Amino acid sequence: MSSRAIVTLNGVTKIYGHFTALHETNLEVGEGEFVTLLGPSGCGKTTTLRLIGGFEYANSGTVSIAGQDVTGAPPYRRPVNTVFQDYALFPHMTVAENIAYGLSVKGSAVAAGERKRRVEEALEMVGLETMGKRVPAALSGGQRQRVAMARAIVRRPRVLLLDEPLSALDVKLREGMQVELKRLHRELGITFLMVTHDQAEALALSDRIVVMKQGKIVQVGAPTELYDDPSTPYVADFIGASNLVSARYEGRDGAFDLLRLDDGTLLRRVGGNPSAASSLQGVVTAGIRPERIRLDVFAGANTMEARIVETLFHGDRVRLELALAGDAGRIFADIPRTAGTGRQLEPGGTIGLHVDPADVMLFAPEPRT
Ligand SMILES: Nc1ncnc2c1ncn2[C@@H]1O[C@H](COP(=O)(O)OP(=O)(O)O)[C@@H](O)[C@H]1O
Ligand SMILES: [Mg+2]
Repeated sequence: MSSRAIVTLNGVTKIYGHFTALHETNLEVGEGEFVTLLGPSGCGKTTTLRLIGGFEYANSGTVSIAGQDVTGAPPYRRPVNTVFQDYALFPHMTVAENIAYGLSVKGSAVAAGERKRRVEEALEMVGLETMGKRVPAALSGGQRQRVAMARAIVRRPRVLLLDEPLSALDVKLREGMQVELKRLHRELGITFLMVTHDQAEALALSDRIVVMKQGKIVQVGAPTELYDDPSTPYVADFIGASNLVSARYEGRDGAFDLLRLDDGTLLRRVGGNPSAASSLQGVVTAGIRPERIRLDVFAGANTMEARIVETLFHGDRVRLELALAGDAGRIFADIPRTAGTGRQLEPGGTIGLHVDPADVMLFAPEPRT
């Protein structure tokens, strides 16, 4: 994070009954950033957002927004607004009334003339200038989503909280709305903190992604950092996809770490994670992204032999389900279709695979928690 923090969580824990939904979490979101909380269902994303919005209160730790400790403050005392996953529009009110509602509630009431002007401005921001008099039932899913956005931005929050804002839309519409979200973020110049379980959406939109697992943050970084340098196998597989193979660490040879797979293959790797490779020993995990596996076979180093289990056609590429020799495990490879031209990629065949030392990821055994 390069800018000043606008949201800070300090040691925040949230417990529901006997279940700890968020464990002593620290997080800083910079002014103007687009930050995404990413993780599987139930990992604590919505809980984190609700603690920031003021819809839940922490059992311990503090929440600060724009330099103010708001840990115990009600939602209307916080300079944030939320776009809820189900939009939570009032069905009996028109679009314009839905949007204006936020301007008449406690803590942010504005005069009628100003209210009308701000509602029009918000409608224009989301491209619904002509829809103000409709009721939500007379709108498409994408239009309802836009109303929810307009209602949240009309109060001019410093931070917009978005809980899976696009999850109710079908794929094509979702992609269009991703572009819209990015534009709104840029035009409004405010901080967006979004929740999603969709890694492609997180990668496409975010300045930084916060990867969560079971109520904890596992890694925070720019999309490229998380993709190129994941800190754990979990992140390696959640951001993009990874083949994770058990290996023995056999020390270093010059710039290379040496990893021995169960089939006897010696993999050299260079650079990247983890920085403290010298402390490694014994069983580790090697990670290889399916799109980095090549079928060009160079003599010797970093070449594996595999049997093709299944061939799946994916348009521009072919996905090969592969069994490594000597029962060393299953992996899959995504091969551009041109590379397979003229080759036998039929199930049952045996092929050689090559992976560049810079494309081998290495993970220490995860500490038991
Ligand atoms: N009000 C609640 N009472 C009890 N358990 C809850 C409550 N809200 C959330 N949880 C639990 O906390 C965990 C995290 O929930 P949530 O933050 O909604 O996850 P996510 O948004 O990542 O899917 C889940 O196991 C969920 O069942
Ligand atoms: Mg959720």
